[in-house]
Amino acid sequence: MTDQELLERAGEAKENAYAPYSKFQVGAALLTAGGDVFTGCNVENSSYGAAICAERAAVVQAVSSGCREFEAIAIASNGEDTVYPCGICRQVLHEFNPEIRIICQSPEGFETYLLSELMPKGF
Ligand code: THU
Repeated sequence: MTDQELLERAGEAKENAYAPYSKFQVGAALLTAGGDVFTGCNVENSSYGAAICAERAAVVQAVSSGCREFEAIAIASNGEDTVYPCGICRQVLHEFNPEIRIICQSPEGFETYLLSELMPKGF
């Protein structure tokens, strides 16, 4: 599974986003150590604070299926700018792999980071 392929899976997942309030549709594709891919999309709510990000939706899918070893996560959106994971999602990813690779859709294609770069000295 290449980074490009994982990003394409995130792009597909984005199509299921429920984002009637922000109109910002996000999809995530999480690659496990075993080579499985779990996807997620953002799911918003009329009580805005109850929104769930795509990245956390993918993590919950994976953990619920018994997978906890994650190698990479790709994030795609319907926006024009590079999409980076929010602080809460960084923290949730840190729980499982502080060095997970993060592939962010960008205007040029994608940018890759380690979580430790985006969230140094995590808890
Ligand atoms: N969102 C994500 O799903 N992932 C991100 O990385 C950034 C933000 C969602 C949350 C909310 O539904 C919408 O995008 C606007 O913030």
